[in-house]
Amino acid sequence: MEITIRKGLESDLPALRDILNYYILKTVVTFEMVELSLENRKTWFTQFSEGGRYQLMVAEKKNHVVGYAASLRFHQRPAYAPSVMTSIYLHPDHTGEGIGEKVYTALLKNLKLTQDVHRAYGLVVLPNPGSVRLHEKLGFQVAGVLNEGGFKFGQYHDVRMYEHRLQ
Ligand SMILES: CC(C)(COP(=O)(O)OP(=O)(O)OC[C@H]1O[C@@H](n2cnc3c(N)ncnc32)[C@H](O)[C@@H]1OP(=O)(O)O)[C@@H](O)C(=O)NCCC(=O)NCCS
Repeated sequence: MEITIRKGLESDLPALRDILNYYILKTVVTFEMVELSLENRKTWFTQFSEGGRYQLMVAEKKNHVVGYAASLRFHQRPAYAPSVMTSIYLHPDHTGEGIGEKVYTALLKNLKLTQDVHRAYGLVVLPNPGSVRLHEKLGFQVAGVLNEGGFKFGQYHDVRMYEHRLQ
């Protein structure tokens, strides 16, 4: 399997937008509700920097972008700055191939190297056995459950918070 993991580029944004829009419109794995535009993704992209707290790693298979893992601001209040929220989405045709593990591992490795991120939080809408397994395999611990923490497609959904103690 030819999988390349690399830093995300602005030219990846149309593919990343399409991947996330699939999950926004068809599933509850993300609590985004409205399709995202390329302009929205361009603004989103401005937060990332090599070696910084907020990073974007992309997975490519046979020269096609098939997914990403990113670290994002966890909360706007400034004392939360050393904590990041993680986000990972793969193209629906490329789940279960070990790509999630590769791209998430690369992101976590980079975050450890920055020495600027103390905690990484992954919020998993339940049930999501693939995401649960991946977080637990990569060393995240359960930090708690937000009971019916979100409402999408006419229903409340529980959210499990996973914490990675990086430093
Ligand atoms: C969740 C996601 C990132 C996992 O990445 P992936 O590439 O599919 O997972 P991997 O192939 O790397 O597998 C990692 C582990 O999870 C397990 N796993 C993967 N999918 C699974 C599933 N549906 N059910 C149970 N276990 C699963 C794998 O067996 C592997 O564990 P193992 O090494 O013990 O066998 C990916 O499936 C995805 O993008 N899903 C849709 C979007 C999403 O849910 N994002 C996360 C939001 S919190």
